Amino acid sequence: TNDIKIAVVGLGQIGIYLLNELNIKKKDIELKTGKKIKVVAVSARNISKKRRFKINKKIFFKNPLDIFKETKIDILFEAIGLSDGISKKVVETALKNKIHVITPNKALISKHGDLLAKLAENNNVNLEFEASVAGGIPILRTIKEGLSTNKISKVYGILNGTSNYILSEMRNSKDSFSNVLKKAQKLGYAEPGNPKLDLNGFDAFAKVRILSSLAFNTLISKHKCLMEGIEKIELKDIEIANQLNLRIKLLGISEIINGSLFETVHPCLVSKNSYIGNVSGVMNAVILEGKPVGESILQGEGAGPGPTSSSLLSDLLSILKGNVKKPFGIPHIKRKSIKCYNVNNY
Ligand code: HSE
Repeated sequence: TNDIKIAVVGLGQIGIYLLNELNIKKKDIELKTGKKIKVVAVSARNISKKRRFKINKKIFFKNPLDIFKETKIDILFEAIGLSDGISKKVVETALKNKIHVITPNKALISKHGDLLAKLAENNNVNLEFEASVAGGIPILRTIKEGLSTNKISKVYGILNGTSNYILSEMRNSKDSFSNVLKKAQKLGYAEPGNPKLDLNGFDAFAKVRILSSLAFNTLISKHKCLMEGIEKIELKDIEIANQLNLRIKLLGISEIINGSLFETVHPCLVSKNSYIGNVSGVMNAVILEGKPVGESILQGEGAGPGPTSSSLLSDLLSILKGNVKKPFGIPHIKRKSIKCYNVNNY
């Protein structure tokens, strides 16, 4: 059928922005794909919370799991954002009901991606998560499609928009960590409910895991990595770095060294004149090294409802065009586990 029924679960900054985009882009999407799309269900904890626009009560579900009992849907956007609990339950239930799932939820994918990918594969539906890594940068599609025949050896960069925004703003405005964090939350950059995940390096690490898995065709590994965020960085650290012509950047790195996977997240000192040193504000940058492509760099806004919605809609188009049938773009069965570099030796 050409009528595609959509559900949006989670109406925070991202869910709301997405609904608006779906409305604005409806005609364009239909023209590009030949499919008619309709949002038939939305869900959030609280219907009466102040939002940019009023939610249609007729399609509102307080409990997202009721959607599956009461409405037929084809595609579900999960925008709740938790790594477990209701987010996982909603995604699992959708996949089991042969509903395609699109999610920006890196905590969920980095923790349960393998299990969910298998579930999607068994039910012959898609699990898409372009928005889970580097916001608006189409990095996963680039790895899965544009660079798919390359042998990638390293992928690294600035993967957390909130941290990069805070480091840049502290330097520019000499404002305190906590004030700048508040601004990042207001702009919708920080993780809903728990900005600690941005600050302690976990968010960047979740993205490193997803990148490793796609770049190196491996199962998402459960080992620990060397992980440090920007929590301990003070204005005076930034100022001293500046006097030495250096910048502090939180980098996520994934690399194959002697056949083992090596993953780290930590703040780095980089030259003020280097490429990475000049990626500021909410910008993310991902640098890939592969053969035969050589070095490729993708840069763009890494957080916020706009860039995230851009990636969510690109997943929608991909599904509507019937492009990607396998989650991760490759059959689950052919994915391999990989030996991980012992971080204690580092
Ligand atoms: N909190 C995340 C960030 C959102 O700041 O990068 C985008 O993944």
